[in-house]
Amino acid sequence: MQIGIDRIGMYTPNKYIDLVDLAHARNEDPAKFLIGIGQKEMSVADETQDAVSMGINATLRYFDRIDSAKVGLLLLATESGVDQSKSGSLFINSALGLGPDVRTFEIKEACFGLTAALVTARDYIQAHPDKTAIVIGSDIARYGLKTAGEVTQGAGSISLLVKKDPGILALDPQSSACSADINDFWRPNESKLALVDGKFSTAIYLDFFKTTFTAYQKMTGLKTNDFAALIYHLPFSKMGLKANRIAVAGQDEVTTKRLNNSFTASIQLGQRIGNTYTAALYFSLLSLLENGALAPSARIGLFSYGSGAMGEFLSGKVIIGHQNMLMRGSDEQQLQKRRKLTIAEYEEVFTQALTEPQDDVELTSDAEKGTWYFAGISERQRQYRKK
Ligand code: HMG
Repeated sequence: MQIGIDRIGMYTPNKYIDLVDLAHARNEDPAKFLIGIGQKEMSVADETQDAVSMGINATLRYFDRIDSAKVGLLLLATESGVDQSKSGSLFINSALGLGPDVRTFEIKEACFGLTAALVTARDYIQAHPDKTAIVIGSDIARYGLKTAGEVTQGAGSISLLVKKDPGILALDPQSSACSADINDFWRPNESKLALVDGKFSTAIYLDFFKTTFTAYQKMTGLKTNDFAALIYHLPFSKMGLKANRIAVAGQDEVTTKRLNNSFTASIQLGQRIGNTYTAALYFSLLSLLENGALAPSARIGLFSYGSGAMGEFLSGKVIIGHQNMLMRGSDEQQLQKRRKLTIAEYEEVFTQALTEPQDDVELTSDAEKGTWYFAGISERQRQYRKK
């Protein structure tokens, strides 16, 4: 039985900044951000968008096209959780109107979370072939204004429908995992901003890529030239580029060109949205599917990395006709409709979003009609509404 991804919905907030503007404001050479970091734009979440609302909005992109009665599992992977106890997925379950018989919970291991949810969903479908699963990665990357990490922030969500006989990507059964208790990036309970040992984190990311990719090849007998594309967790595109350079080192010209071209196709969305932590690898996947030239049954390798740290290399084969399951035009429209903020406006929106809303103060959203948003806190309970 083939199990894998049948639908992909994306959401990113309706505001962004141009990183050339940010470079000027921070007295940096724009080439550092555009080439050295490899990013162009960055989505900015205001106080009304959080992991829950973005997750609802991403899922609603395809929800009216699926048989919702078959959904038996709903997982939210996030490191931008809205409660220490209650799973954010319960708010999402309620907004989607799924039944009470759905098993739902939240998963956390930094950016690795959505991969953890995806492989959990694969195992669930194996045991319950007539059911489907919705797995969502939803995050806001915040390091703080005027920090080295500022240019690698972002916000967005990816929602995946996982089922048997999928329409987009059939997952291969094998994968190679690697974990280690290290402190490259973390976010203490009292902080809304992540702490990071930046240079260390980039070195560990590459170590984990080498370890998991080598182990995967040994385990499966597959070689680098068996892949039509390799895609990466993308905190910023230069990070993936460094991993891809390792992958293509010593390969023949045809393989190198193919993997370089597919890498370029895979970074288009991430370069404009920024780091979305759990969702970032799956924005790479969506970007590759929408912008790459993939033959039917092409094999894609996915490198997932979450600080702390956990890495996994997995793979899947593209399904014939997968283009018909995508929404390239409306995904692009979503990006184009975002409002560009000046750096002064971004600083205000960013700072406001760090402030805890006062009880019983209703928040209003400037998002499009139909968008779900966080409307504030009433009697210490979070309120979500549809615009
Ligand atoms: P930095 O110190 O500001 O940057 O921090 P830099 O000085 O290292 O420069 C960056 C690159 O720009 C360098 O290129 C420079 O040479 C180049 P590289 O040596 O890397 O190839 N450069 C220029 N290029 C062209 N023209 C110029 C120019 N000037 C310099 N004029 C850093 C960079 C990434 C460390 C920082 O932004 C940071 O700490 N970011 C956050 C941490 C991060 O994203 N880590 C990634 C790996 S960990 C991960 O992926 C997990 C994560 O997503 C979290 C999770 O799992 O939940 C973060």
